[in-house]
Amino acid sequence: MLLLLSSAPVEGGELCLMRSVLISLQRVKAAFFTKQESLDLPPGARPALYCSNKCTLLDWCQLWCAYPSNTPTHCLVSNITVMPTYQETNNMADVLTCHTTRPKDLATNANITAGKQFISYPLRVKENLVDGFYNYNLNQCHDTESSNSDRWFTLDFGQPKCFQHVILHPTIYKFAEKRFNNVQVRVSNLTAVTPPEDFAAYDLFGEFPGAASAGQVVEMKSLKPVCARFVTGHMLYSKSFQVCHIEVF
Ligand SMILES: *[C@@H]1O[C@H](CO)[C@@H](O)[C@H](O)[C@H]1NC(C)=O
Ligand SMILES: *[C@@H]1O[C@H](CO)[C@@H](O)[C@H](O)[C@H]1NC(C)=O
Ligand SMILES: *[C@@H]1O[C@H](CO)[C@@H](O)[C@H](O)[C@H]1NC(C)=O
Repeated sequence: MLLLLSSAPVEGGELCLMRSVLISLQRVKAAFFTKQESLDLPPGARPALYCSNKCTLLDWCQLWCAYPSNTPTHCLVSNITVMPTYQETNNMADVLTCHTTRPKDLATNANITAGKQFISYPLRVKENLVDGFYNYNLNQCHDTESSNSDRWFTLDFGQPKCFQHVILHPTIYKFAEKRFNNVQVRVSNLTAVTPPEDFAAYDLFGEFPGAASAGQVVEMKSLKPVCARFVTGHMLYSKSFQVCHIEVF
């Protein structure tokens, strides 16, 4: 695999398994909860080839950026999660092209509805789940109130879309066991339902019966592609439901 990668064409910085994404360098660097390193580019090294090989060799690397963008002198390698269709809206001034190992997915930029947000954490809005960005900071998560009528979210793709994977990130902290516990993921084309009671009419896609451990990533995979307009998550355990990042592909 490494051999294949290093001999792949690097024109335009595109490499097999890596997708380009425009993101502010500040946004990547200001991620205090991530693992990251800044490496000097050796003289004469081709930035795309050098940085992508470094990222491939580090099992935790999910994003690399050669910077500054006009004549790179450094590679930033990071375990931050940035989806290929992430839309930079904050710091347009220092936007540059980085490369992510994450796949193109349907959750990023989807419409989302959810139960009432936990009132104590105003920054943990549901939109955090569809912004294509997660740096392990709790303020990138979404927390619902704890009553059954609130422990859910629904993604709306606008029309049926096909996928095989649903990935959910509980928090990296130990309290994941209480905030992500006994979760069902369902899919449907049915509109006009009252969540969460009517989720019973949706098809079960996957179930996570246990309590999540710190840093666990919950991956649900169906053997065949499933096509649906809506994807819902519902926690049956009676605490505030916390999800920090979602991928559907
Ligand atoms: C990224 O690094 C942070 C800090 O070491 C760690 O807590 C987190 O679990 C890592 N995430 C991934 C997906 O590797
Ligand atoms: C999301 O909702 C907005 C406003 O209702 C709509 O214009 C847009 O097409 C929707 N996007 C998707 C992906 O369904
Ligand atoms: C949703 O509609 C699509 C296209 O009409 C269909 O292929 C798919 O099976 C439907 N999905 C569900 C979960 O009913």
